[in-house]
Amino acid sequence: MLKVFEAFAGYGSQRLALIEANIPHEVVGISEIEGDVLLSYAAIHEDLLDNRELKVELNDDEMRQYLKKINVPLDYKTFENKAKNLRGQKLKYMYLANKLSNNFGDIRTILPDQLPDFDFFTYSFPCQNISVAGYQNGLTAESGTRSSLLWECCKIIETKKPRYMMMENVKNLVGKNHKSSFEEFLSYLESLGYSNYWDVLNARDYGIPQNRERVFCISILNPEKDFIFPKSKDLTIFMEDLLEYSVPETFFLKSDQVSDVPITQDYIYCLDSNYWKGTFLKDFLSKKRRQLVSGPAREDGKYPARRLTPRETWRFMGVSDSNFDKSSKLVSNTSLYKQSGNSIVVPVMTAIFSELF
Ligand SMILES: C[S@@+](CC[C@H](N)C(=O)[O-])C[C@H]1O[C@@H](n2cnc3c(N)ncnc32)[C@H](O)[C@@H]1O
Repeated sequence: MLKVFEAFAGYGSQRLALIEANIPHEVVGISEIEGDVLLSYAAIHEDLLDNRELKVELNDDEMRQYLKKINVPLDYKTFENKAKNLRGQKLKYMYLANKLSNNFGDIRTILPDQLPDFDFFTYSFPCQNISVAGYQNGLTAESGTRSSLLWECCKIIETKKPRYMMMENVKNLVGKNHKSSFEEFLSYLESLGYSNYWDVLNARDYGIPQNRERVFCISILNPEKDFIFPKSKDLTIFMEDLLEYSVPETFFLKSDQVSDVPITQDYIYCLDSNYWKGTFLKDFLSKKRRQLVSGPAREDGKYPARRLTPRETWRFMGVSDSNFDKSSKLVSNTSLYKQSGNSIVVPVMTAIFSELF
């Protein structure tokens, strides 16, 4: 049985792919700091919805202490721990979500010696430029102090020496600004005995109609043979297959947002919700990172442009409706968008894991 540790776990797309690939496994621990994300993780993987009535032996202060110790939930804006604000049911769900998921919390405070052993380590670290310890640059080793979140993984890798590892990140990681740091990191892994195999994979080549390119790096300790990334395949699922039929008006653009837009498409969807809020369509169309498609016109002659629903964004990440339903009972639409935006397309990993294991 493959023992797995999911760092920067999100809602556990890694684990979903292991299930899809039929690989017997046990997730022995995760590392994640965002409260809503943990509720999703526990709802999907640990039946939090059914386990909400579990009896908890700890009192409120003890539950807060538990959460504070692993530094969860962390507020990204202030970098403050929010456990002290939690009361009643919310506190209990947050405690249970963390406990049931074996969350070891903030990677910066994890003591690797205290982690259980595992064979497979997944780390899709966030690339952020925030000047708080561990968040300086996402990648660079900060003039030798190794303070970025990626380098936080090293203490775990060095101590636990998992046989297999998977890193995932934005394509920019191998672009000109970051390439030398990335290569420095690969050399470091080599010095520990790992062989590294990396490539940029696009979701649309692995069964999901989304143009999403990400770097994947598979590292194997003293491999017997080289790892080869899975071959791409033709799509059999298309945009229309993943769209909802009946979508509330609130998801559609208002007419004053589209009046001055010279668009030829009749129907526009936005895959990137971050660029949507408060943005006029013409500005939106000029954004470099936009992801738009067109489709059939509506009869009333209006531009039937709209953003994707949260459910659709999860479908475009290869997550089933039943898993979306579990999470959406516990967290807001804003968080649902953010979680899918941050995640990894499941079928891409399913293909990788089928090759690897
Ligand atoms: C790019 S996302 C990865 C999402 C994940 N692969 C998934 O399946 O959804 C990065 C994640 O790292 C988490 N994170 C950020 N800082 C962290 C820290 N110090 N320790 C642990 N997790 C952290 C974020 O909350 C976020 O969910």
